Amino acid sequence: MSEFSTAQVHAGEARDAAHGARVTPIYLTAGFEFDSYAQAEGRFGGDEPGYTYSRSGNPTTAALERRVAALEGGREAIAVGSGQAALTVALLGLVQAGDHILSAQSVYSGTRGLFENGLRRLGIEIEFVDDPTDLTEWRRRVRPNTRALFGESIANPGTDILDIAGVAAVAREAGVPFIVDNTLATPYLLRPGDHGADIVVHSASKYLGGHGSTLGGVVVDQGSYDWASSPFAHLTGPDEWLEGASYVEAHGAAAYTAFSRSVVASLFGPVLSPLNAFLIQQGVETLSLRVQRQSDTALAVARWLEAQPEVSRVDYAGLESHPSYPLALRYLPKGQGAVLGFTLAGGSVAAERFYDSVELFSRMTHIGDVRSLILHPASTTHAHLRREVREETGIGDGLLRLSIGLEDPDDLIADLARGIAAVATADATVADAVVAAAGR
Ligand SMILES: Cc1ncc(COP(=O)(O)O)c(C=O)c1O
Repeated sequence: MSEFSTAQVHAGEARDAAHGARVTPIYLTAGFEFDSYAQAEGRFGGDEPGYTYSRSGNPTTAALERRVAALEGGREAIAVGSGQAALTVALLGLVQAGDHILSAQSVYSGTRGLFENGLRRLGIEIEFVDDPTDLTEWRRRVRPNTRALFGESIANPGTDILDIAGVAAVAREAGVPFIVDNTLATPYLLRPGDHGADIVVHSASKYLGGHGSTLGGVVVDQGSYDWASSPFAHLTGPDEWLEGASYVEAHGAAAYTAFSRSVVASLFGPVLSPLNAFLIQQGVETLSLRVQRQSDTALAVARWLEAQPEVSRVDYAGLESHPSYPLALRYLPKGQGAVLGFTLAGGSVAAERFYDSVELFSRMTHIGDVRSLILHPASTTHAHLRREVREETGIGDGLLRLSIGLEDPDDLIADLARGIAAVATADATVADAVVAAAGR
């Protein structure tokens, strides 16, 4: 199925032989009945195909997994309860205490939190590459115990574009897998696996679902990394559950997904409800239409914002002024996504005024919705970070992040103009007061 728009409505579908239901049914069941002792034994032993319990697998969830794997051009996917769960499963399928993860500096605040507050407590070392465009820095920071390289295809919220092929080459030299969070780009705009990423993760809560109704996450093994000759002893060494065989011997190229599904996802337990899998699948079927439209509107909004004197900076890789523009031309020719940031010269006072005056944008921490959303990161999602970290990652007091939805572009710009007017009026009032005070 070569064309994306065809694959997004058909790939991985399983026809319902019993009733002919055209849409994958919602198999909302905790477990699956066995016909016999032998069938139960066969299913648990893996000798007989079929499901056992929805924490280990479910037909509705499996249909979503096949579709996202197909859209990413990957080998196999695991769907879990949120984007955070996807990152956790992807990483704990690889690393253990004493291992080191090398990540781009500009990553989603929850991912940074997972690294610094979650994984560090488990004895996993995390290091950030200050300038992710500098491949020599990536190379220099790889250590003997590095077990994964990580970055976001489009960073949230700075919109810096990752040089995926460049970092993939560093990962290959180091002999470790390269994980890319492709949430903001989606496989419609960019497939990291085509440029050398080995594992792709998604917050399906965003564009894949698309309607802001459901949390979910997906891990895709692209099939490019050779698990058999990897440094991961839990995949290549003998395993008690596999009667002394290794995951590689038992599952071949599926070793990583088999381990991540049966040990990490199933036993840590961050399961996706089949109902949510169904809702995300509905969203995936219109992905290309939504993302193209949202991305086109985002560019128009970014250009408009750049022309406003109250705005000192616009972070959107589709603008010629953005440092990532050359990478955007290379990796994202169809569009650069629908998340953008802009900084008001008036700092937090101006940001508060702007934020409180919009009427169409919803004041929310979320992205990828059909509705347009606005967030002030420094006082909300990034408030817990040290000021230096905020500054290093471009989160100033005057920064507002927008997620562009499917509304009419003119209506959105009219709403933003309301915000600009509120800032400009306040500036004019201050200027009048200064003039009046000077004249006294
Ligand atoms: C790039 C990125 N990755 C992961 C996540 C986490 O996703 P979730 O909220 O579904 O756990 C987010 C959430 O905003 C995100 O923007």
